[in-house]
Amino acid sequence: MPDFDPLIKAAKAARENAHALFSNFKVGAALRATSGKVYGGCNVENATYGLTVCAERVAIFKAISEGERKFDAIAVITDTDRLTPPCGACRQLIWEFCGDVPVAMSNLKGKVEVLQMSQLLPKPFDSSNL
Ligand code: THU
Repeated sequence: MPDFDPLIKAAKAARENAHALFSNFKVGAALRATSGKVYGGCNVENATYGLTVCAERVAIFKAISEGERKFDAIAVITDTDRLTPPCGACRQLIWEFCGDVPVAMSNLKGKVEVLQMSQLLPKPFDSSNL
């Protein structure tokens, strides 16, 4: 089992920047590229609600815009007893950009659960279907 601690720490740091004025639900994510670089992300809400971008997608877009194309793990952290899995939209994009990576879900109390993307998104739609 790989050590997800550094990635979870990075997700926790990113969560500090969450812009969650409307839901008050702060989420942090961290995505590790095979280059070794880690890209953090937080949720960014706005007054329309609907234009909110989740922490996971912010991390993915940051990494892609920096030229990264291969990833090996992602971590998500919230301050909840029940761990937060990525939403449906994020599962789609994690699958398309990262493939069957492990997703480390965690909380501020140190609880961690790791699931593969293929468990979170069985029967995915992707470019292989086109
Ligand atoms: N959120 C995330 O950032 N990631 C998830 O996986 C679940 C939901 C955010 C979106 C919104 O800002 C807040 O959490 C409440 O849904």
